[in-house]
This record gives sequence, C-alpha cells and structure tokens, in this order.
Amino acid sequence: MTEVAVRCRGLRQSFGEQVAVDGVDLDVRAGEVFGLLGPNGAGKTTTIRAITTLLPTAAGVVEIFGVDAARHKLATRRLIGYVPQQLSADGSLTGWENVALFARLFDVPRAQRRSAVRTALGAVGLTTVAERLAGTYSGGMVRRLELAQALVSGPKLLVLDEPTIGLDPIGREGVWDRIAQIRAETGMTVLVTTHYMDEADQHCERLALMHRGRIRARGTPAELKAAVGPDATLDDVFRTITDDTFEETGEGMRDVRATRRTSGRLG
Ligand SMILES: Nc1ncnc2c1ncn2[C@@H]1O[C@H](COP(=O)(O)OP(=O)(O)OP(=O)(O)O)[C@@H](O)[C@H]1O
Ligand SMILES: [Mg+2]
Repeated sequence: MTEVAVRCRGLRQSFGEQVAVDGVDLDVRAGEVFGLLGPNGAGKTTTIRAITTLLPTAAGVVEIFGVDAARHKLATRRLIGYVPQQLSADGSLTGWENVALFARLFDVPRAQRRSAVRTALGAVGLTTVAERLAGTYSGGMVRRLELAQALVSGPKLLVLDEPTIGLDPIGREGVWDRIAQIRAETGMTVLVTTHYMDEADQHCERLALMHRGRIRARGTPAELKAAVGPDATLDDVFRTITDDTFEETGEGMRDVRATRRTSGRLG
C-alpha cells in the first residue's frame, strides 16, 4: 500500500462570516508532486496553513505521515518544510545567514548545522553566492534561497505556496528544476500551489482544483484534461470548474464529465 504523506478529512476554516475552506478532503501520496490549484481566494493558502499547523482554529482531521497534526503539532512541524506565499528571506542577511537562521529555528543539531546549510544551499544552486546579501539576489534566487531554508531541516514533506509567482520564465524553470532534482535525490513529497496551469501540467503528478473553499476536481493532469475534451488544456479544466453554473456533486472527475455533457447538449 502506498504511504500517505498528507491526509485531510473535512478540513474547514472560517474568518468571521467568510468560509475560506469548506470541507476539504485531500490525500497526497508519499513521494509524489501534488498540485493544489484554484483562482485567487479559492482557499489554497488557508488549506496549506491548516496542513502546516499554522492555523490553530481549523476544524477537521489533518495527518502528516500518519501523525495527527492537531494532537502532535511539534512532531508534525518537524516533518514539514514550508515556503510561504509572501517572501520571507531577509535581504540584510547573506544567503548563508538566512539558511543558518532556519537551521537554528528548526533545531538542526549544532554539530550538523554547517553541513546542513551547505547541503541546502548546494541543492538550490546558490553555493557561489552564499556570502552575498540576499538583498542583491534576483527574484528567482530569492525563491531558491527560501527553498533552501525549507530544506535545511531535512523535511519529509515540502510545502510550497506559489513558489514561482512573479518570476520570469527562466526563474520559474530554475525553481522547478531544483524541486525535481531534490525530489529525485531524496524522495521527498512535494505539495505545491500555483496559478500557472502549464507548470502544474508539466510538473505535478496529481492535482486538486479548488474553488470557493471546495475541491471541485481531482486527478492526474491527463485525466482532468480528458474529462473536459479531447484537445482540452488545463486552462480549459480551470475555466470549467470556476464556471459558476458548475454543479458540484461529490467526486470531482464525474462533475467535470457531467458538466461537459451538459454544455455539449446545450451547445
Ligand atoms: N487571515 C484572514 N482573515 C480574513 N480572511 C482571510 C484570511 N486569510 C484568508 N482569508 C480569506 O479567505 C479566502 C481564501 O483565501 P486564501 O488566501 O486561502 O486563498 P488562495 O486560494 O490562497 O488565494 P490566492 O490565489 O490569491 O493566494 C479569501 O476570501 C480570503 O480573503
Ligand atoms: Mg494563496
């Protein structure tokens, strides 16, 4: 049986009147790259923050490699490396210092810190610029530095919230290349959110599409596209699930097919 890295059941989070996450079930298999997609405000970041135990009030069940996140918060956090949507590197510190700070924060034993920082910076291709202030880095380098910060504690699960947002095509490619390499070398599980459908198509093994706090469709990129039509792109899938006439009835894939049939009949 495949090991489950992330298991969510009935995940729910409100902010006042606003229901941001409305009963999300999610299974991420160990070792896969799983993409959580959806338009602005869909609830992706809130879901990610609940999974990483950063939202104390979320309801429902979250298990990380079988560990109950609500009951064992610290043990859960030790399994996770997290790169938030907002930039988090400190421009007034060098690349090395930024990563060393995270090594201390995440309790990497003192004797192992230097080698852990060196390995993490090497894994993202920043060894030669490690002594430069992060404030002098390009956007793509800053994102890779943040990847190194998340990696330094040797997590089993890497959680990346919009890792390539705002980057040029070369910067985006650089981030994905590093993610692929790290995954190949360590077998790490990667849970990633993105707005870029082409990236999700190319780099994620399985996807969940979220809209208004709910998961509307899930499957491999190929399955999702096939459900919409023979020549459909992931952008078409995205448009279908964010269409407000879209009827939601449990299993995502069936929904997409049903919607397709309906629009075919109408058209
Ligand atoms: N701390 C908060 N307080 C109040 N409302 C919030 C808070 N965080 C998120 N929300 C609301 O919850 C909803 C979901 O937000 P969330 O950030 O999870 O979406 P998202 O899918 O990550 O969007 P984006 O693609 O823009 O990053 C939005 O309507 C947002 O305004
Ligand atoms: Mg977000």
